Amino acid sequence: MNSFPLIPLKHRHSILIIDDEEAILDIMAMTLADEGYDLHTASSAKEGLSILKKSPDFSLIISDQMMPGMTGVQFFTEAREICPNAMRVLLTGYADIDAIIQAINSGGIHLYLTKPWHKDELLLSINQMLSKAELLIENRRLDELVKKQNTELIELNRHLEEKVRQKTLHLAQRAEELKASYDKIQLILEGTVLAISKIVESRDPYTAGHEQQVARIAGIIARKMALSEDQIEAIRIAGLLHDIGKIAVPAEILTKPGQLSRLEMEMVKTHSQNAYDILKTIEIPYPIAQIILQHHERIDGSGYPQGLKGEEILLEARIIGVADVIEAMSAHRPYRPALGIERAIEEITQKRGSLYDAHIVDICLGIYSDEGQKGFME
Ligand SMILES: [Fe+2]
Ligand SMILES: [Fe+2]
Repeated sequence: MNSFPLIPLKHRHSILIIDDEEAILDIMAMTLADEGYDLHTASSAKEGLSILKKSPDFSLIISDQMMPGMTGVQFFTEAREICPNAMRVLLTGYADIDAIIQAINSGGIHLYLTKPWHKDELLLSINQMLSKAELLIENRRLDELVKKQNTELIELNRHLEEKVRQKTLHLAQRAEELKASYDKIQLILEGTVLAISKIVESRDPYTAGHEQQVARIAGIIARKMALSEDQIEAIRIAGLLHDIGKIAVPAEILTKPGQLSRLEMEMVKTHSQNAYDILKTIEIPYPIAQIILQHHERIDGSGYPQGLKGEEILLEARIIGVADVIEAMSAHRPYRPALGIERAIEEITQKRGSLYDAHIVDICLGIYSDEGQKGFME
């Protein structure tokens, strides 16, 4: 039993002892015999090196300094190449400072012991060296683990990046497909809207082109007002369909030359509500039915069918209302010749703020004063 505390070791360690004196090897082997180490001895540096080459798995190497043929320092210089992880202890017969400095610098010595040694001191030193060796083993294990995990992370990262790249590619393809199908739907909608508008106009050849013209003028006003592309598109479609409700009004009334009777007028007025009833169930991404329902509403509440006032009327409907008046007055009608754009401008100027939205009228006046009649044609 040792009289001093030793650090418990986790592994069984191999120790190589090299000394040219047989007696030293015997004493050392005897001292360490009961400590549970795997002991190997060599009587020369050359023999020590050949043992290391066969089995470089030593935790600790103890070598004498003064040996024939090769000194301990020379031995360790070669031994550390073969067995770099072993702890290296140099035995010196006396405190040879030069040999010790050289041993540390070129032999990579971790400890030196002077002969003769004290048994306890030797056991303690060996125990400390092996404990240090275990810490280094553990460090190397953790190092390896970190390296392995890093490699795994890099691989995982690369894998994720590849997945993200593929997903992005897939999404871009899907977006392109969606865009293509959206464009196709827009084209179908456009064609359908135009077809419907032509059907309505075919019953009233005198107003041919009215809806297209209103859509165009309303679009010009909306652009000048810097509305969103969605609003402009809604105004354009609503413009193209705004009189679709006239489909339910007898053609004789629509084409009648001269003044309409009160009853006939009431029948014409139903076209806003008719249009709303036709369009309300159609899924269009804009409030087309509402805009058309309100296109004859007027700012002072004198319009129809609901008598809405001011901002109760959708902005889009207020724009179509003004565009409708400009187009209707500029164009020929069964009951009167074309009045001309000047008369239309006069009308909206006079009823600015009462029948027609003041800001929209101002926009129209701006267009007219800058570009004249051409300003309302694209
Ligand atoms: Fe109308
Ligand atoms: Fe109209």
